[in-house]
Amino acid sequence: MFSQLALASSVLLAAFTQQAIAVDKTRDPGLDANLVTAATQLDRLSLLSKDSDWFFDFNVQQPYYNFAPGGVVNMNAATFPAARGNGMTLAMLNLGPCSMLPPHYHPRASNYVVAVHGNTTTYMYEENGARLVTETLLPGQATIFPQASMHMMVNNGCEDAQLVSALSSEDPGTQNIGNVFTNGFPAELVNAAFGQDLAGAEAAQTMTPVGTGSNWGLASCLAKCNIKPNSTYIRF
Ligand SMILES: *[C@@H]1O[C@H](CO)[C@@H](O)[C@H](O)[C@H]1NC(C)=O
Ligand SMILES: *[C@@H]1O[C@H](CO)[C@@H](O)[C@H](O)[C@H]1NC(C)=O
Repeated sequence: MFSQLALASSVLLAAFTQQAIAVDKTRDPGLDANLVTAATQLDRLSLLSKDSDWFFDFNVQQPYYNFAPGGVVNMNAATFPAARGNGMTLAMLNLGPCSMLPPHYHPRASNYVVAVHGNTTTYMYEENGARLVTETLLPGQATIFPQASMHMMVNNGCEDAQLVSALSSEDPGTQNIGNVFTNGFPAELVNAAFGQDLAGAEAAQTMTPVGTGSNWGLASCLAKCNIKPNSTYIRF
């Protein structure tokens, strides 16, 4: 009985943890390791011996490709071993109507973003004392988020938005801001630091998980676009 309960709760915990921190899984750790230790590029080529090893499809069978609310598909060292050693990540950012990428930063890369579809507003804040930089990007228009700057973006329209993102590392990392407060720092210290209840059990339960990288946006926008979000994580 106890072991069944323990099993059930660990399965639940695993499911919750997976949903809460959905990061790119390294698809072939052994190959990545061999690519790192290979002596020459020709040795790497022999490890990537098939043409399919050099092909990445952003559209097909990528776990985070969707527009409800959206998702970020990364072509990086974790998802595409041939990226190892090439110093870049290419990412496709899909934002359904009103959807957003919540505030986050990349600890190891600067980030160029160019819009392909839709109307997206970006917000970027580099450090204490810096001004807020905001841009509205239509197709063909771009901006830069310097390494480790905090940024977010929102699809203003009722159409899907799509942007292509280039990052200056094959392992740029992504840190969402809100989740830092509810995922481990002592709640009472977080609340003391900010002078209000940002952490605690209730915030931990209601904080939107990192998920696919995209979140549903403003309720007023969703109502205007007649979109009914199929997720519990929409409150504003
Ligand atoms: C893009 O969205 C912004 C914010 O809603 C709006 O002010 C602007 O007119 C839109 N641009 C176009 C070309 O639709
Ligand atoms: C939400 O609905 C879309 C289709 O509109 C579907 O593709 C997606 O998987 C659904 N998401 C969830 C979490 O049910």
